[in-house]
Amino acid sequence: MQNLENKYDLLRKQSLKGFRKLVYKIDPNRDYAGKFDFIPTMVSKERQLKWTGWFGPKLAKNTHDFVSLMMMQGYRNGLKPSTDIKVLDYGCGWGRMLRLMPYFVNVNNIYGVDPTPKSIELCQDYNVPAHTAQIPHVPSALPFDEKFDLIYAYSVFTHMNDEVAANAMKIFRQYIKEDGLVCVTIRPRNYWEGRPSGGNISPQKKLELLGNHDENGYAFISYAENRHGGPTNWGDSSFSLEYIEKNWKDWKVITVDVTDSVPLQRLVFLKPV
Ligand SMILES: C[S@@+](CC[C@H](N)C(=O)[O-])C[C@H]1O[C@@H](n2cnc3c(N)ncnc32)[C@H](O)[C@@H]1O
Repeated sequence: MQNLENKYDLLRKQSLKGFRKLVYKIDPNRDYAGKFDFIPTMVSKERQLKWTGWFGPKLAKNTHDFVSLMMMQGYRNGLKPSTDIKVLDYGCGWGRMLRLMPYFVNVNNIYGVDPTPKSIELCQDYNVPAHTAQIPHVPSALPFDEKFDLIYAYSVFTHMNDEVAANAMKIFRQYIKEDGLVCVTIRPRNYWEGRPSGGNISPQKKLELLGNHDENGYAFISYAENRHGGPTNWGDSSFSLEYIEKNWKDWKVITVDVTDSVPLQRLVFLKPV
């Protein structure tokens, strides 16, 4: 991948916006013959929507907003401002964040994992510049013999029940460097207030979820309860900061933040203790 790293290194000289425009070209059939043929092709609109709920320039912009905010908070909180850091995207999907990471990180040091085989297939077939691998839904180890400076999970803990989330934090603890940083997004209480009734959430269920959040700092409804079915430990969740501070005992909350573009994805930054 050294050759690829040399090519990306030339692109780092431009603005993040310019870089994003290059790696987020929308037309999957475009011809990048010549000097940009190493850049990943974009997945179809349907796949953008299926994994993220967004597509096109809006998706590119909110991806940019998350990655730039995360890196800014990372640098403010001890992350080395060097392309030598090692980064893991947990629940990477088709690689929308991974595509932006080479702006900050040597392409040899970028990793992504996801339990959905199609996610990994889309990363690999579309030339996403990262080492990617499938993991079990609730893994006991990762398929990489690495320690990471930064592990992040966007729109992943927002779907986990408490046990799956606790397991992921246990895995992160094994693979984070002692001075490393984790950034996960969670949903706040008002996610439930704004959620329209329908699907698997009746007005009564909504009240129950708000009550659970108020009482326990955590609420969860599984996709298994809607007409599409699915695993019982995956769905929609909210976690309070108090819950995290009390239950994720190997971690200390360093700071929190939120982008303007996706206010219901709250960024929580944690360091190992
Ligand atoms: C809403 S998508 C977000 C994908 C990506 N992080 C993004 O923002 O584009 C949720 C992702 O989590 C993955 N996922 C599902 N179960 C998971 C689990 N138990 N652990 C980690 N990731 C999981 C899904 O396959 C999917 O790619």
